[in-house]
Amino acid sequence: MENDEQEWIEAPDGWGNAKEEEENIAFDLFGSDDKSETFTYDIQLDKDNCKRITLTGFELDSDETDHSTGVTLWQAAPRLADYIHIQQNSDMLCKGKSVLELGAGLGLCGTVACYIGAKSVTMTDGDTKTLKGMRENVKHNCDNDVGDRIQCKQLLWGAPHMNTFLKENGQYDTIIAADVIYTKDSIVPLMQTVACLLEKSGQFVLSRYTKWHSIEDETVIELAKQQGLECTQPSKGIFIFRHSNI
Ligand SMILES: C[S@@+](CC[C@H](N)C(=O)[O-])C[C@H]1O[C@@H](n2cnc3c(N)ncnc32)[C@H](O)[C@@H]1O
Repeated sequence: MENDEQEWIEAPDGWGNAKEEEENIAFDLFGSDDKSETFTYDIQLDKDNCKRITLTGFELDSDETDHSTGVTLWQAAPRLADYIHIQQNSDMLCKGKSVLELGAGLGLCGTVACYIGAKSVTMTDGDTKTLKGMRENVKHNCDNDVGDRIQCKQLLWGAPHMNTFLKENGQYDTIIAADVIYTKDSIVPLMQTVACLLEKSGQFVLSRYTKWHSIEDETVIELAKQQGLECTQPSKGIFIFRHSNI
């Protein structure tokens, strides 16, 4: 944990799977305790060069993930990485841009943004354990030039955190986030953070995989609108928000 960070675990008591885990204990006695997992993603840098990103985290159904969802890789992350990786999107969203990632988890999308030419990338998360894993993944995957352009910072959505973050870091050309909506209460602080930290002409690219759990797309779009953000949906599971007053 860095000096100015506060201890914050997303779900200290877990997401409610404790009983299920107890019932499964007989099976676990014969299973392996090691639920760590390695995820890979290939970035085509040019015609002849490919960079493989290797991220270490935990299996989806591990105890660790029950408390901190950011210690595994969710399917919306490669979906967002694929989207920003497409040449015309990467030119518009990443090349030479300052990029902020919210709820970055293991750090896939921010790392991809950096490799495809972002001027700077700030990957953030609120969760202390997630940030620790993210920093280790950055150390492992990014050296020299790329490493110098990426930082990992704690950012909890909403006030007062977003205001302090704005004072210290300013606004960003592009904000990205994958699979960060699964509770209705988090939508307003998330969208307030985007409205606060996104440059006037910037874009916020949000991905989901199948659904936002039980939350309808319309709810997300309406709550964003109330924060002055309008939405377009360029492809499946990808939502782009821009300031509506420009
Ligand atoms: C389901 S995970 C997605 C992680 C990663 N983006 C991915 O797709 O693999 C959601 C992430 O959002 C973070 N998060 C949830 N609520 C947050 C909040 N209020 N402030 C900051 N981060 C938050 C969690 O810690 C977690 O890392």
